[in-house]
Amino acid sequence: MAEPITSTLDEEQQRIAGDALRGTVVDLIDLSLIAKQAHWNVIGPNFRSVHLALDELVTAAREFTDSVAERATAIGVSPDGRASTVAQQSSAAGFGDGWQADSAVIEAIVKNLAAVIARLRSRIDATEKADLVTQDMLIEIAARLEQLHWMWQAQVATVPK
Ligand SMILES: [Fe+2]
Repeated sequence: MAEPITSTLDEEQQRIAGDALRGTVVDLIDLSLIAKQAHWNVIGPNFRSVHLALDELVTAAREFTDSVAERATAIGVSPDGRASTVAQQSSAAGFGDGWQADSAVIEAIVKNLAAVIARLRSRIDATEKADLVTQDMLIEIAARLEQLHWMWQAQVATVPK
């Protein structure tokens, strides 16, 4: 059956870039859901700054989700952002149930960012030969998520003695 959207990539390049993009869509959707869950459930003395920083992360994750999903479509690959797919395939670290102390939220967000960044970096390697345009997009996302990974750690980091 002919595909409705043709790609400028060959079949192998399309498969590699498509897998990287589909996996990243799933991870970013989960990251945005985790950050919203944390935004609603955080409590503690640093509530306000953590609550606001979480929405900054939600915005970044949502914007990147759309770019990545539409890059998939541009190379003729159908993105899958269904809840069931995200639940089965996400490489994020997850988030606890119920109210969460601000310090626990920070720890969980750093862990989730690290997990998503690790997968992004392996997809950056995987797309090196297949599609530099996709790779460039993944690099931009990794740079922003690594910036956020720093900022989340800095909220609780202490100067070494
Ligand atoms: Fe809100």
